[in-house]
Amino acid sequence: MALRVLQKRSALLAARCEELRAARVVVGAAIVRDGRLLAQQRSYPESHAGQWELPGGRVEPGEKPTDALVRECVEELGVPVAVGEQVGPDVPLKKDMVLRIYAASLVGGEPEALEHNAVRWLTADELPGVDWLPADRVLVPALQTLLN
Ligand code: C5P
Repeated sequence: MALRVLQKRSALLAARCEELRAARVVVGAAIVRDGRLLAQQRSYPESHAGQWELPGGRVEPGEKPTDALVRECVEELGVPVAVGEQVGPDVPLKKDMVLRIYAASLVGGEPEALEHNAVRWLTADELPGVDWLPADRVLVPALQTLLN
């Protein structure tokens, strides 16, 4: 009986740890169409305004990273995406967070900058010359490999 209670508590604890771990992930979408990658230009905060990033955002507690990515793309771009494999490694962000990028493709519709200044489609050759957020810049080689 005591063993079963311990096992149950341990399972609950493991589930809670997984929730907390997932809550520290920021997901991003490497959306590719016709050999080009979609990027969006931030309008906030002031320190990042004008810089470019892959669409995405924080995973909410209890949410699967891939579900968060689909939600973020609908919120930011107004389109649903199909999520594929992770691209490159997790990249450290401030405050114990990491940026995790997944390959993605548009399921339908045309992406619009609903919460950002602009969106643009980039070729592999254009990626190094873009003013990326620091963590996104780390992933440029992996993104070029994805495109090529
Ligand atoms: O978009 P949001 O403000 O929720 O992003 C959370 C954090 O993740 C921010 O610090 C943002 O700069 C970072 N981020 C990033 N690259 C992305 C998306 C978000 O570095 N593609």
